[in-house]
Amino acid sequence: MPRFRHLISIDDLTREDIEYILEKAEKFEDVARKGYSDALKGKLLGNLFFEPSTRTRMSFETAMKRLGGDVVNLNTAEVSSIAKGETLADTVRVVSEYVDAIVIRHPREGSARLASEFSSVPVINGGDGAGQHPTQTLLDLYTIKKESNLGNLKIALVGDLKYSRTVHSLIRALRLFDATIYLVSPESLKLPGDFVDELGEVIETDQISEVIDEVNVIYVTRIQKERFPDPEEYAKVSGSYRISADTLQNAPDDLIVMHPLPRVDEIATDVDLTPHAVYFRQAFYGIPVRMAILSEVMGYE
Ligand code: CP
Repeated sequence: MPRFRHLISIDDLTREDIEYILEKAEKFEDVARKGYSDALKGKLLGNLFFEPSTRTRMSFETAMKRLGGDVVNLNTAEVSSIAKGETLADTVRVVSEYVDAIVIRHPREGSARLASEFSSVPVINGGDGAGQHPTQTLLDLYTIKKESNLGNLKIALVGDLKYSRTVHSLIRALRLFDATIYLVSPESLKLPGDFVDELGEVIETDQISEVIDEVNVIYVTRIQKERFPDPEEYAKVSGSYRISADTLQNAPDDLIVMHPLPRVDEIATDVDLTPHAVYFRQAFYGIPVRMAILSEVMGYE
């Protein structure tokens, strides 16, 4: 029996479920590194992406194909029947009759949950507005497990904590792992109050230099330009934080810097050359983790 049918929010999973997926991902790492298996031979994934994506869409597709399955993509909404006024509910009803599972990314918060209510097959949330991005959270936790210490985690979440769905998902999972959480952001990009209330004790600051010696992980996020209702508000905070090799000059050797990517200018490229940078490996870990998720919802043990 799969541990879950749909994966809409990280809150759908217990700590045991998460640990189980991370262990399963470990078993897929060899296949993920340019291998092949027929674990999902004959299975078909439907990708419904209503927002831009490189990593989520392509890593799901890579995961599916390396496991012997295949993928069909809804072409951009402009050339699908969405352009004729078809609703998301009807689209999902139809596509779920074609495929064995659906991944959906949509600008509206709650859209993945809605899709799951109309789908006859499992639905995986690939990001819904500023809501959740649970598969990113699982690969973030996997990265921490591989590159740092998930059992004794002190993590600084840096940047756009207001709109970043990767942060909104990750922060919920971090509670399950008893992590010490530092929130580092400009005043106008602070984590919304309801999240802070749920977290209990957190340390908030707007200066990365104040926490660099305290943490073992720095998780940086892009300012989510596309979620700002007013472009002038975006202009006020654009470029307001940036991590460079200089910032990390006196950092502990085992400090890792993560980023869900894409980055714009919040991490200078000179950080890429330091031993702290793990964000490109983090992007790779999306493949074994998504293999684990796909095989789980498609019933492969
Ligand atoms: N991290 C992430 O979700 O990347 P994409 O937007 O490229 O999918």
